[in-house]
Amino acid sequence: MSKKTCNSLNFRIKEHPILEFKKGRLVKFYFNGQELFGYEGEPIAASLIANGIKVFRYTEKKHRPRGFFCALGKCSSCLMTVNGIPNVMVCIEPLKEGMDVRRQKGRGRLV
Ligand code: FES
Repeated sequence: MSKKTCNSLNFRIKEHPILEFKKGRLVKFYFNGQELFGYEGEPIAASLIANGIKVFRYTEKKHRPRGFFCALGKCSSCLMTVNGIPNVMVCIEPLKEGMDVRRQKGRGRLV
């Protein structure tokens, strides 16, 4: 693993006393054009958090930051634009190689 790859995964939980983490292969993806790495098949949100990114979108009216909240696909806090498609719940969407993930403003617009 290269130094750049290691640095991009500093915030990842690697060990847990009762949970086991199964990982897919390490893949490259993009956040707002920035090259990042995550494990294939894990939720996109997990990869973003592992890379230190906590703000996923800004609200429509007051432009307040939103990020990870329920992690179950129930609250809409994590909506982002993925591969040009707005309003993707990244807490339940699996990461794939080469994905283009973008922070969403308001309700999101098709690119
Ligand atoms: S964090 Fe609640 S829907 Fe994704």
